Amino acid sequence: MRQLSQSTDGNLLVGSATGDDAGVYRLDRHRALVQTVDFFTPIVDDPFTYGEIAAANSLSDVYAMGGRPLTALNIMGMPTEFVPPRAIAAILRGGATKAKEAGCAIVGGHTIRNPEPVYGLSVTGLVSPGRMITNAAAKPGDLLILTKPLGTGIITTGIKRGLTSPALARRAIRSMRQLNAVGAELAERGLVRAGTDVTGFGLLGHLAALCLASGTGAEIDASRVPVLGKEVFALIQKDCVPGGSRQNQETASARVDWGAATTSQKVLLTDAQTSGGLLLCVRKTRLDAVLALLGLSRTLSAAVVGRIVAAQTPRIRVQS
Ligand code: CO
Ligand code: CO
Ligand code: CO
Repeated sequence: MRQLSQSTDGNLLVGSATGDDAGVYRLDRHRALVQTVDFFTPIVDDPFTYGEIAAANSLSDVYAMGGRPLTALNIMGMPTEFVPPRAIAAILRGGATKAKEAGCAIVGGHTIRNPEPVYGLSVTGLVSPGRMITNAAAKPGDLLILTKPLGTGIITTGIKRGLTSPALARRAIRSMRQLNAVGAELAERGLVRAGTDVTGFGLLGHLAALCLASGTGAEIDASRVPVLGKEVFALIQKDCVPGGSRQNQETASARVDWGAATTSQKVLLTDAQTSGGLLLCVRKTRLDAVLALLGLSRTLSAAVVGRIVAAQTPRIRVQS
């Protein structure tokens, strides 16, 4: 994307420059389109569950902008010689189930034969331009709240190697299929103006992009960061770390002061998440209102994991 020149269309409110979750295009004074696409290879064996997780992950980028998903298109590539029609139908049914839960109409899609299975959605949503959640609006003093525990990259790698316990696998799946719809609720109430969802670049990767776009730094309290289970640290000891997470840690190290963080904490804080939670920047005066809404929405966590700080360079300090 860096090779492309930025669009100069005056109605483009959020383009690719700020590493945001979705593009935002103004329709009129009160409405803007939110557009995003995401897809990936299977991370669980069950095709219906895979469809649910892929769809929840795609829908999340609209919620992370404070928008409401309106319509979606299926995007699918399948090795039809290996994957039977009923498994393909189950993947699409899983996706449709989540879209329905989100109040989002699936209006069509496109499927090709592909050596590797891939599935996801291209989602279009609506947001009020004055209420959207972006990477660029964080202010020093904002508290950082994370709405899902970390660990899905490590856990799904453990599942593939037969090392993850069934209980932990169930907890991770429950987390990955949960919609981040609370993002729209928070934005509509004007409670949150900056934030993102935590996906492939891990907590610190997405936080670094947010700090860069906002011209701030951040501090993370490593001991407050929620994890899907203590067993995740045992899986890290057994080297269940996906390639993407290793890459994330290498990239993050240029921007992060690790302090006394342990090797396991470094892995967790940069673990590539699938359908991860929202990372929200919240003013202190709005903390109680935000936590109350997260409670009503039954998010899997509502942890204050750090704060935005003033900084010349977008550095992140990790405190143990
Ligand atoms: Co995102
Ligand atoms: Co995305
Ligand atoms: Co956003």
